Amino acid sequence: MESNWQIHNSSGEHRVIVTRNLPGKKWIEILEDAGCRIEAWVGRKGLTGRQIVNAIGDNCRAAIGMLSENWSAELFAALQKAGGKVYSNYAVGFNNVDLEAATKNGIAVGNTPGVLTGATAELAVALTLAAARRLGEGERFLRAGLFQGWAPSLLLGRLLERKTIGIIGAGRIGSAYAKIMLQGFRTNIIYHGKRVNHSLENFVSAFNDFLAKQGERPVFCRKADNLEDLLIQSDCVSLHTVLNRETHHLIDARRLSLMKKNGILINTSRGQVVDEKALVEHCLNNPQFRAGLDVFEEEPRLAPGLARLENVFILPHLGSATNWTRRSMAVLASMNLGAIIKGRPAWTKPEMELFLSPDPPEAAPSILNAKELGLVLI
Ligand code: GLV
Ligand code: GLV
Repeated sequence: MESNWQIHNSSGEHRVIVTRNLPGKKWIEILEDAGCRIEAWVGRKGLTGRQIVNAIGDNCRAAIGMLSENWSAELFAALQKAGGKVYSNYAVGFNNVDLEAATKNGIAVGNTPGVLTGATAELAVALTLAAARRLGEGERFLRAGLFQGWAPSLLLGRLLERKTIGIIGAGRIGSAYAKIMLQGFRTNIIYHGKRVNHSLENFVSAFNDFLAKQGERPVFCRKADNLEDLLIQSDCVSLHTVLNRETHHLIDARRLSLMKKNGILINTSRGQVVDEKALVEHCLNNPQFRAGLDVFEEEPRLAPGLARLENVFILPHLGSATNWTRRSMAVLASMNLGAIIKGRPAWTKPEMELFLSPDPPEAAPSILNAKELGLVLI
């Protein structure tokens, strides 16, 4: 029987499993250079938790897993017993990982930040335009053979220029999205987060100097007093927060009702940040409201009724889905493994591009529990 596992460097000393085949070749070279025997799952469907435990077996030094898998205490116990030292999520988000259990089992956990900032921000912009200009409706209409020629009132949408954008979670991706919206559409920005985002505020202030030189009026950028303030004031709200206990169903029926009747909600973070059932209800009752979604509460399933809503534009979790991004994520994930296997320190600076250079730092790019595990930090 043909195996669904593809093996590289079969005589490598450290057995590593990768739960889905990854784009590019560089990640394979990095693991080979660290003395790994690589077993990558190339089956059509992803693996279940049970299948992953079986794949770990009784000898496995490290693993790369997917955001669609539940890396639970059970998996980390199995990995620890098999001699495991390090796991990397092939994602920046890690809500699917029981970090505490990994730490308890002495397993370093990596992720792949930085390299997907631009791709995810660009996709959020694409969703924003699609929702504002009703691109999904237009395409369905045309493909269904309903187009009978140009008409003054056909599928009118919303202009984004000079509107106010609300950013929930002004970290790397949220800030990148805000900057594209600012430069492309001269939007005002209200952001919600724990800290004042000086870098974003300075960027907007420099942009206002530029606008002034063009004889254009300025835009504003401010931190929201609270979430309600942001929801009430914004024409378009984009979610860029991490998923944790506090952000689960952060956008619920009550908060949706605070948004403008013709508001736009964009989600490229995690589905569970939004109460999807409440969103379906809200979109049904408010036909002028629009949503652009890349993530869902129970992927790949959608809440009942969601796919039938004309005012919702949906994509199958494509935030980081560019060739360059997915290859770069594979490089970071394999470097997380290789560096820990070689006993190298953990990198603590935000610059990730260095790891894509011909002469990358000799460190693990991003280990989430490095401090807890007492790894050397650089
Ligand atoms: C994508 O959703 C990621 O977290 O990388
Ligand atoms: C109308 O909603 C517009 O913004 O053009």
